[in-house]
Amino acid sequence: MDMKSRVLIVGGTGYIGKRVVKAIIALGHPTYVLFRPQVVSDIDKVQMLLSFKQLGAKLVEASLDDHERLVDVVKQVDVVISAVSGGVVRHQILEQLKLVEAIKEAGNIKRFLPSEFGMDPDVVEHALEPGNITFIDKKKVRRAIEAANIPYTYVSANMFAGFFAGSLAQLQDDVRMMPARDKVLIYGDGNVKGVYVDEDDVGIYIVKSIDDPRTLNKTMYIRPPKNILSQKEVVEIWERLSRLNLEKIYISEDELLNMEDKSYVEKMKRCHLYHFFIRGDLYNFEIGPNATEATKLYPEIKYTTMDSYMKRYV
Ligand SMILES: NC(=O)c1ccc[n+]([C@@H]2O[C@H](COP(=O)([O-])OP(=O)(O)OC[C@H]3O[C@@H](n4cnc5c(N)ncnc54)[C@H](OP(=O)(O)O)[C@@H]3O)[C@@H](O)[C@H]2O)c1
Repeated sequence: MDMKSRVLIVGGTGYIGKRVVKAIIALGHPTYVLFRPQVVSDIDKVQMLLSFKQLGAKLVEASLDDHERLVDVVKQVDVVISAVSGGVVRHQILEQLKLVEAIKEAGNIKRFLPSEFGMDPDVVEHALEPGNITFIDKKKVRRAIEAANIPYTYVSANMFAGFFAGSLAQLQDDVRMMPARDKVLIYGDGNVKGVYVDEDDVGIYIVKSIDDPRTLNKTMYIRPPKNILSQKEVVEIWERLSRLNLEKIYISEDELLNMEDKSYVEKMKRCHLYHFFIRGDLYNFEIGPNATEATKLYPEIKYTTMDSYMKRYV
């Protein structure tokens, strides 16, 4: 009988991690969700973990700081997926070096997917500070994986739709994750192409890749053809669905680069917006020989288009 890989996820209670957990279970893999000892005081996270358990996942309490325990946990599975924070508010990418050490010592892992799921850190050049920390640290983890000869897949999921389409990629509001109804900042001329992906689809593509020889030691980009859109095209989708006509405020490259930030978070966000919407770093390169593209590998997956995704906000 064809046995599905046993999969351990670290960061399963996170924004993308919880979608990955659901995808691992949905695709029939024995699922192990690592949770930190500290999390037991957080009722929402505990409830989330219990909901995974009800779906069939095994919950495993372990700390990345306890090497021996971690090696024991890793030995119970075939594949490890990490989805620890890498973003603007929390940044735990280098914590994964402990995971790399444990995987190396355990010696049984067929595939490791480190926490990536955004812009390819090896592709982006001359990234702006302080946003470049994400790419610098993700590259350090990649090099450690390669030095340890751990089989890997790096997943570049481009822009999570909830973050960048749902918010219309607005800068001025730290917390506004709903599309604006009055005015919108457009970066540059608004015509630079980016790539948007529904987060549930990200989870499915990630899990599809883990047993696939075509993704072994490769970067897998997720580029759904219908979701290769400019910022203006996403705004147009929202205007059509909401029947609103937004005032467009154009922010030139110079203005974006020289804007005064209200907070560190805003500064980090500004860097990412510059790369996505001015430089076009998500789509301004050809996929190289050591990489592959998810929608071509798995044409059977009916991904969510942004036309469909944006309907939830109406
Ligand atoms: N492409 C995009 O648009 C986009 C957007 C956002 C994020 N991302 C990327 O996606 C990845 C995941 O980010 P996210 O926003 O989903 O993360 P998140 O919501 O902050 O969740 C992080 C998860 O990691 C866990 N974690 C953190 N430190 C840990 C540790 N030391 N030991 C064990 N678990 C630990 C957290 O556990 P607790 O629940 O215990 O805190 C949580 O489950 C990052 O690489 C990020 O850069 C991409």
